[in-house]
Amino acid sequence: MRTIVITGGTDGMGAALARHFLKAGDRVVVLGRSRSKFQALVTTVTSKDQSAASRAEYIAADLSLVADSRRVVEHLKANHERIDALVLAASFIRQRRHTTSEGHEASWALFFVSKYLFVTGLATLLHAAERPVVVNTAVPGARPDAIDFDDLQMINGFTFKRSNAQQRRANELLGILATIQNPDLTYVTWGPARLVRSSFAGELSTGMKAASAILGTLIGQRPEAAVLPIIDIIDAPAPGRAAYRGARKLSLTVGDHDEKDAARLVAAVDGDLR
Ligand SMILES: NC(=O)c1ccc[n+]([C@@H]2O[C@H](COP(=O)([O-])OP(=O)(O)OC[C@H]3O[C@@H](n4cnc5c(N)ncnc54)[C@H](OP(=O)(O)O)[C@@H]3O)[C@@H](O)[C@H]2O)c1
Repeated sequence: MRTIVITGGTDGMGAALARHFLKAGDRVVVLGRSRSKFQALVTTVTSKDQSAASRAEYIAADLSLVADSRRVVEHLKANHERIDALVLAASFIRQRRHTTSEGHEASWALFFVSKYLFVTGLATLLHAAERPVVVNTAVPGARPDAIDFDDLQMINGFTFKRSNAQQRRANELLGILATIQNPDLTYVTWGPARLVRSSFAGELSTGMKAASAILGTLIGQRPEAAVLPIIDIIDAPAPGRAAYRGARKLSLTVGDHDEKDAARLVAAVDGDLR
């Protein structure tokens, strides 16, 4: 039986994946903040297959907090022998700069630091799987120079656009580190082909909320449909790095100093976490 770990597995595309893999007979570990959403998704599956209840695990965590991400990593290491697929889909959109109770910039902490702690901290469990996969729902294709290594937390000049581009680029560099460490690993940065009708969790302006709701209704895909390419990637992994929009494979963004930038990123993040 495969073990699939899904951050942001209580809602949107993460929940669609959790339901799919529970129906498929896998063990699914869901991370999020809402136990009631988790229970609701398990109920939809157990109404047809009672066995799903014993294969579903919930871990409550606020992944914008470093302490919570570290706690979850330790919990997974203590309670699981391997991880076949790690899906990184927790999302909370903030248009403005926000500092967590630990003093970190919240979007950077959730959209990159937590993912960094998971991918590096769970490397041994991923190594133990025959065909390990990391699907990181960071939309690929940000410019190679999108990271401000001297100000990762964007104390100066935070904008939603800059913050978004920085985490997306950093998540691509994380794939370099992860696949160097484990050549058997499939590491995919993935974004949907078009807007997905999800919960759009976040603190959004009234305009952005309304636009997401209207566009979501008019042109949005259902999460169940949007995640079909992710299911294919997990079911038939191809070791190495790759980038996708929906089911379409993209060329990886290549910069002049990718490996050096990846190492620089690690040094800067580890410095921040010290
Ligand atoms: N929707 C789109 O059109 C779209 C487009 C491009 C990229 N994406 C990416 O696809 C991924 C999934 O997006 P989605 O729209 O399907 O998500 P969503 O419906 O907004 O759901 C967000 C999920 O993240 C969890 N979450 C939020 N804050 C958290 C925190 N601090 N700690 C732990 N979990 C937290 C939520 O859990 P609780 O509710 O339990 O708190 C929920 O399960 C994200 O990475 C997103 O950036 C989505």
